[in-house]
Amino acid sequence: MNYLLRGIGVLAAVGTISMLAFSLPASEARGDGGDDLMPRPANKNWQQECSSCHLAYPPSLLPKASWQRLMNGLDQHFGENAGLDPATQADILRFLEANAADNGGSRMGKRVMQRLDAKATPLRITETAWFVRKHDDVPRTAWSRKSVGSAANCAACHRQAEQGVFDDDTVRIPK
Ligand code: HEC
Ligand code: HEC
Repeated sequence: MNYLLRGIGVLAAVGTISMLAFSLPASEARGDGGDDLMPRPANKNWQQECSSCHLAYPPSLLPKASWQRLMNGLDQHFGENAGLDPATQADILRFLEANAADNGGSRMGKRVMQRLDAKATPLRITETAWFVRKHDDVPRTAWSRKSVGSAANCAACHRQAEQGVFDDDTVRIPK
């Protein structure tokens, strides 16, 4: 049932995109910002400041309260000091909140929220129940391979992660 629904969703998305392709500029036809499964919103400060050590993780994968907690503790960020000036920090937080999993705007966000305890504010996408379940099939040993490093290194497997693309067609687990 799940797969059937997903199949229909994919077909519908493909249909919509190919229709849009005739009428919209290239960026919109690719679905940037307009894809409601995994939206690809953009913000200059976020892109610049949050992609220097790792991928700028899609905002729709954590709820607002998680982003607030994370942005309020940047000086002690997973063992790094990722502190920012207050204006930049506030701008990025506004952007993350506006596009968070619980803003209701994306199907991906709904999936993440469905599996999250009401009051949970995880700091890691990789520790959300959604993530763990979705990556069930990934062999445990793969996470710690040298070529991967950690589950947080999305781009090791998702070849177009930098562009915000995480679909099945662009995944390959490296040796
Ligand atoms: C100075 C380096 C640095 C900067 C800058 C930085 N981070 Fe991180 N971030 C890290 C490290 C290190 C980790 C842990 C990675 C790991 O476990 O492999 C991390 C992890 C994360 C995680 C959890 C990933 C997971 O496991 O799901 C999130 C979310 C995150 N960062 C968001 C941000 C945001 C938002 C910004 C911009 C405001 C940012 N980071 C800027 C170093 C940085
Ligand atoms: C070791 C490789 C690996 C890493 C690292 C990894 N993934 Fe994945 N991911 C996969 C595989 C394989 C699938 C396909 C699972 C399936 O469809 O059964 C997947 C599926 C997904 C999907 C679902 C795509 C869809 O079409 O439903 C999303 C979203 C996703 N990953 C996001 C992430 C994010 C975000 C990160 C980093 C925080 C990450 N992944 C890290 C291997 C990885």
